[in-house]
Amino acid sequence: MTVLVLGARGTTGSRLARQLTDRHVDVRRAGRSAGTDVYFDWSEPDTFAPSLHGVGAVYLLAPVGVVDPEPVILPFLGAAEKAGVERVALLGSSAIPMGSPGLGTVGTRLRDFVPGWAVLRPTWFASNFTGDHLHARTIRSHGEIVSATGDGRVPFIDPDDIAAVARRVLVGPAAPQRDLILTGPEPLSFDDVAAQLTRPDRAVRHRRVTEAEMSRRLREDGIPPAFADLLAGMDTAIARGAEDRTTGTVEEITGRPPRSFARFSIDS
Ligand SMILES: NC(=O)c1ccc[n+]([C@@H]2O[C@H](COP(=O)([O-])OP(=O)(O)OC[C@H]3O[C@@H](n4cnc5c(N)ncnc54)[C@H](OP(=O)(O)O)[C@@H]3O)[C@@H](O)[C@H]2O)c1
Repeated sequence: MTVLVLGARGTTGSRLARQLTDRHVDVRRAGRSAGTDVYFDWSEPDTFAPSLHGVGAVYLLAPVGVVDPEPVILPFLGAAEKAGVERVALLGSSAIPMGSPGLGTVGTRLRDFVPGWAVLRPTWFASNFTGDHLHARTIRSHGEIVSATGDGRVPFIDPDDIAAVARRVLVGPAAPQRDLILTGPEPLSFDDVAAQLTRPDRAVRHRRVTEAEMSRRLREDGIPPAFADLLAGMDTAIARGAEDRTTGTVEEITGRPPRSFARFSIDS
């Protein structure tokens, strides 16, 4: 069976593609950049059917930065149904409940198009402090993480654990047919994160800003205004305790506990 991986050059898609390939599963890497197997662009619906031809399962990464991706994803799911796709793993977010407008509604519609499905709802990624992400850049430039999360805590998750869950959903014995809230093992405040990222040669601090200031910073970083407001609002939700919990779902689905933020940071 061939698995179509959308966003195959991205954080979770690249990890999923690697995990599947390591297990000799046939993978079709989709995206717009070099190094993918098939050209796929959410803004070009003509690319949907060719990407889906002969595919049995799909890792569905929604268009990034779009507040309501439903109008573009439902036609894709229609094409997937036509192509005979058996399973879909949709990457959602712990902050987006099933049935809420946009991606939450897409989650509840999966069952209308494919027999096997799950919505992965991870909390914030541990990788947000690495590479080209905004936090990583401000750590390098100013030795600081800037957020409106206050003292709120997040059980950051290793994206490899998200990929491991997606793999089980797509090629495991049975698809879960539900949403899966995925967390790491321990909630951490952004002060905790700053402390964990501090090295002998580089101190890191957490600078607290208001939600409005956070949105302004995100816009200045090139994020579309509506999406910047959404992300900054999520910081406020974190400050109020929305992410302060853990679930046992990674272990339930993969058979092993999620990796800690500290372990991820050491290995990255
Ligand atoms: N970061 C977090 O803390 C967090 C927490 C919970 C949920 N999430 C969810 O995770 C999603 C991001 O997943 P990720 O981190 O795995 O991806 P990512 O690293 O942000 O990469 C995004 C991928 O999407 C592809 N892409 C961008 N625009 C596209 C388009 N128009 N058509 C087709 N492909 C396109 C890109 O590939 P090409 O450039 O090759 O096309 C890229 O591979 C977010 O949207 C968010 O909803 C993130």
